Amino acid sequence: MGRVCALLYYTRAHSESGNIHSLASPHATRRACMKHKAMPTITYIQPEGTSESVEAELGMSVMETAVDNGIDGIVAECGGACSCATCHVYVDAEWLQRLPAPDEHEDAMLDCVFDRQQSSRLSCQIEVTEEIDGLTVNVPENQI
Ligand code: FES
Repeated sequence: MGRVCALLYYTRAHSESGNIHSLASPHATRRACMKHKAMPTITYIQPEGTSESVEAELGMSVMETAVDNGIDGIVAECGGACSCATCHVYVDAEWLQRLPAPDEHEDAMLDCVFDRQQSSRLSCQIEVTEEIDGLTVNVPENQI
């Protein structure tokens, strides 16, 4: 537990009950701590040019962030198991080298997408970290 989280945990325990033995649940404290962490922003650009920027929760995937925010064009039939290729996106050129390269399984699945390009990635395989704040991905016209 970090310093800020420990302080929240302690403060919450005292402010809610005044009894040190009745502490806030670790889960509630963790959620409160997450709100204090910077949430990366991801921008999704649709084929016709419209874009939407959303805040992403650390540890989620770029696909899950899209689905949770109702981004059109990210189908994600397999739910992130890297077995459908319907979460295909084109990563913006400036981000290509900044992301971890696709592993062998993702690379094989990318052969199934419609119009694979050098910038093609499966968004379910890109984890949201603080380092991807500002990531821009383009949603393809078709998924498979
Ligand atoms: S959601 Fe199925 S491969 Fe990404």
